[in-house]
Amino acid sequence: MITQKRIWLSPPHMSENEQHYIQDAFKSNWIAPTGPNIDAFESQIASFIGVQHVTALTSGTSALHLALVTLGVTQGDVVLCQDLTFAASAFPIVYQGAEPIFIDSELDTWNMDPVLLRKALEDLQDSGKKAAAIVVVHLYGMPAKMDEIMDIAAEFHVPVIEDAAEAIGSMHHGAKCGGIGTVGVLSFNGNKIITTSGGGAFLTRNKKLIDHARYLSTQSKGQTPYYHHLEIGFNYKMSNVLAGIGRGQMEILPERVEARRQIFNEYKKHLLGIEGITFTEELKGAFSNRWLTTILINPGLTGGVTNEEIRLKLESENIESRPIWKPMHLQPVFSKYKIYSEGNATYLFDLGLCLPSGSAMTKDEVARVCTVIKTLISLKLSNLKFKQLDKIIQK
Ligand SMILES: Cc1ncc(COP(=O)(O)O)c(C=O)c1O
Repeated sequence: MITQKRIWLSPPHMSENEQHYIQDAFKSNWIAPTGPNIDAFESQIASFIGVQHVTALTSGTSALHLALVTLGVTQGDVVLCQDLTFAASAFPIVYQGAEPIFIDSELDTWNMDPVLLRKALEDLQDSGKKAAAIVVVHLYGMPAKMDEIMDIAAEFHVPVIEDAAEAIGSMHHGAKCGGIGTVGVLSFNGNKIITTSGGGAFLTRNKKLIDHARYLSTQSKGQTPYYHHLEIGFNYKMSNVLAGIGRGQMEILPERVEARRQIFNEYKKHLLGIEGITFTEELKGAFSNRWLTTILINPGLTGGVTNEEIRLKLESENIESRPIWKPMHLQPVFSKYKIYSEGNATYLFDLGLCLPSGSAMTKDEVARVCTVIKTLISLKLSNLKFKQLDKIIQK
């Protein structure tokens, strides 16, 4: 029988102030996808990330979609996309009738491998084609190798869409993730480090791109008193009520990042000595928001205990953990598309596990999770020893 309180993977964590901004929206009757909360929320994001232009949208997925549309990605184009990610990084490529080509991850950051990216761009060039965009992701908050990726993209004249849905607060050599690519994308989904219950943002330094994104996000309405549409539009703008939640959440973002980093350190303190469990470390110049603490479990060293066994054991103890994102090339819906692979995404999916990492998690809760993992592994290892002893005795 389950008696202990459930530990969720990454639940929302409100401060006091969200209510205040929501009430403002009600009091002033700005219950619309426009209003003072949106303006203020967009300014907060722009100054936090250090980027000139931001538009707040209904989701990270809609921001990714508008990134592709504003960059001119269309039917028959090729877009190079990180293989190891959540499917929302890739779905909008197909909305546009374009073809994704997936690029495997390197094992340092779990993000797009610059060597394979270059190879894909060279192969396209050799066949007389050019990629229309690159979608790079900062998975679980860990910055991708953006210097190398931006240099390669510039060499081949391809714009970069930086999917920072999981990485608000992360940095690469001092630059905030989401503000490095041609277009950056954030998500404020309920499971993210800060949330508006559902929402996202489109970020750019390019005035033309932001003007176009704003226009498209509100049904491509022109300046005329009647509605005059020159382009197919979308209903993607965030509501002023939800932007109120965002305002409160932005105020405490640095604390939330610090809390997630502390949780990562706590996990390491408890688990680092255990053979067969490894963590992803930050490379020089990288700062991760540690949205989720992830581990790799090598069953060869844990007495045969696998990531899935740990997940099920945690679940039986009322603790939510989750597999690593299943790579896009293994998804039936994307199986017909090409992949440049060294097998790393599959390896990470096979061995990895996301541990509960909510910013309100206590040290005792982290210890509870780790005790379950340690007990499972030590039981298996001692069973294994007994079996080996039995064999020796029988001989
Ligand atoms: C890497 C990545 N990209 C895109 C998205 C899509 O964001 P949203 O759920 O806000 O549409 C998410 C998360 O949900 C994500 O994790």
